[in-house]
Amino acid sequence: MSVISRFARTGGWLRIGGVSLGSIIRRAGTPLYVYDARIMAEQYARLRAAMPEAVSLHFAVKANPNITVARLFRELGAGAEIASAAELEACLAAGFKPRDIIYAGPGKGEEDLRLAVRHGIGSINVESARELERVIAIARKLKRRRPQGVCLRVNVEAATGEGAGEIMIGGARKFGTDSSRIAPLVNKALAARQINFLGFHCYAGTGIRDANRLVAAYEAFARWAEAFARRKKLAIQLLNFGGGLGVPYADDESELDANALGAALSGIHARLARSPNFEKARFILEPGRHLVGPAGVYVMRVTDLKVSHGRQYVITDGGIHHALLPIVMNKRYPTALVNRMGRRAAVACAIAGPLCAAADQFSREVSLPRPRVGDYVGVFNSGAYGYSAGMLAFLSHPTPAEVLALGGAAWLIRERRAPDMGVPPRRLRP
Ligand SMILES: Cc1ncc(COP(=O)(O)O)c(C=O)c1O
Repeated sequence: MSVISRFARTGGWLRIGGVSLGSIIRRAGTPLYVYDARIMAEQYARLRAAMPEAVSLHFAVKANPNITVARLFRELGAGAEIASAAELEACLAAGFKPRDIIYAGPGKGEEDLRLAVRHGIGSINVESARELERVIAIARKLKRRRPQGVCLRVNVEAATGEGAGEIMIGGARKFGTDSSRIAPLVNKALAARQINFLGFHCYAGTGIRDANRLVAAYEAFARWAEAFARRKKLAIQLLNFGGGLGVPYADDESELDANALGAALSGIHARLARSPNFEKARFILEPGRHLVGPAGVYVMRVTDLKVSHGRQYVITDGGIHHALLPIVMNKRYPTALVNRMGRRAAVACAIAGPLCAAADQFSREVSLPRPRVGDYVGVFNSGAYGYSAGMLAFLSHPTPAEVLALGGAAWLIRERRAPDMGVPPRRLRP
């Protein structure tokens, strides 16, 4: 089923969150990201329903780092997974309690870690021995009353098989610490009064739609944790199984079977609950793309049309500086003229942006109603890793605005910004 069918339409216009996209464009201009809050809520509710109670869901803010989007997931009951101090501050401003925030990512900055410890967030998912030492030193210096919660991110071996998506565990990795080298970190974490060793984190990869591959990774992580905890006589409070839950991009791709993931995690939880090492253990999932991807549409205005060697080009005011992922991931994002929905597709078009780069082309061949200058092109499935994963400064165009629509009202949630052309020279004094 195409993601486009999750949106209504009025006349020819796409409707997002009960609002005609035409009226949003009139007020906010293009290029533009528009998000349907109802679809975000549906994605969350479906995943929540598929998961056992023991699994907490933390929205991976990096997938759509907008404070209003983060607030929406907090109101739905999610925790947050962050990757920087700015994401932490946004989550606090969005009303998340520090204990509901977890922090992952290699090479965390000293300042970022200090802020996380100062607020006493739920867990810092520590990537290396050096980072562990840093967290301990910061916690010691800040003299917080409560020890800082820490999980150790582990790189386990898992036979996840071939398929769509990117696997990020097994073999040589910059992420986490190899399972064979983690014992000294556990000893250190247990010995440090300033931190509370909670358990382990394992992020298998991203964009995975085959539940069997994710289940294979979950099982490998759980089996490793089970054996390790038994050997070291650990009391594990938390196992974080990561994110990576994919969504279909092209219309012929299948949905991830979230119920199969939920059933697998239920089974793992029931098994571990019988072990004295996991009596009180809770699980975490930290999905990003799955929660927000289908909710977003990137909207561009058609500024020119041309035919080159028989190919119809549709030139737009938006491009891959705002939406790089369709190109990087070589994905066929569903694309439509959002002001002429329901019209018969008549022409095979290449959709290309204003950048002086040949790569600035969303589709080589998408069937559209005969395009006109002034039409609007919507690239669907653009709710995740869109605005934040672009090359916003490339060619110095204004940034896209962001709008969230819900229940018949549209809200501007990020202003369009003028390009940053640098500053007049200021002497750097020695
Ligand atoms: C540690 C960690 N958690 C969660 C996520 C979110 O992943 P996804 O959007 O694929 O669910 C990422 C993405 O890079 C990540 O690195």
